[in-house]
Amino acid sequence: MTEHFTLDFDTILMVILPYVAFVLFLVASIQRYRGQMFTYSSLSSQFLENRHHFWALVPFHYGIIVILLGHLIGLLLPQTVLAWNSQPLRLYILEVSALVFGLLTLVGLLGIIYRRMRDIQIRFVTSTADWIVLGVLLVQVFSGIYTALFYGWGSSWYASTAVPYLWSLVLLSPSVEYVAAMPVMVKLHIIGAWAILALFPFTRLVHVLVVPNHYLWRRPQLVRWYGIRRLTGGGA
Ligand code: HEM
Repeated sequence: MTEHFTLDFDTILMVILPYVAFVLFLVASIQRYRGQMFTYSSLSSQFLENRHHFWALVPFHYGIIVILLGHLIGLLLPQTVLAWNSQPLRLYILEVSALVFGLLTLVGLLGIIYRRMRDIQIRFVTSTADWIVLGVLLVQVFSGIYTALFYGWGSSWYASTAVPYLWSLVLLSPSVEYVAAMPVMVKLHIIGAWAILALFPFTRLVHVLVVPNHYLWRRPQLVRWYGIRRLTGGGA
């Protein structure tokens, strides 16, 4: 029997899109690093406002780092995750911990968005690309938490269905069947990940590639403005 390659929405969004996103990510990241190395930054606005920056950025980063590490552990060690989850108490511990870090990410992200909307100076230095990144991240985090809350025991079915799908992409033998029957919100979550990968090199997300980012562990900085009095005629 001959196999037919059908070009439906699932194939476009969950097979072609991830490959396009990955190639774009690789080529454009390298190009930007070689051409505009000094733009490889999060373009911090910390010097404009520091308090909200600290209370939003820190929870967001700790939350997202733990969540993405969790996704990575599931990807690399699916059998270990399934074995861990085989005892109900351990499954609850994993699910509740993931939810706590998911919510930490969401609270931090909402704080970042609120800070950029509220402060006029920060709104001024926020580009359209920044708003797009924040919007896509919000959809991603929201759809992840929604998935965790409404499609029970995600850590187990992630290991047994989403992970084989991801490996099928890595091994260049894509099998969209693993995820084709998933609910819309889960598909949105998967497609969101590919959108983020594609946006990566064109936005401030590139700073992830040049860690460490010291503001995660240093104390909030005090920034003194020396120029203001001189500008307003008040001397040095
Ligand atoms: C940019 C990439 C991604 C980000 C930022 C992200 C973020 C998140 C967040 C914040 C959660 C909520 C965690 C919780 O509250 O328990 C989550 C859950 C989840 N994500 Fe992702 N995700 C990404 C990529 C993916 C991909 C590619 C897949 C699958 C192919 C996936 C599958 C899942 C599943 C199944 C859950 C539910 C886990 C559970 O119930 O404990 N995610 N994700």
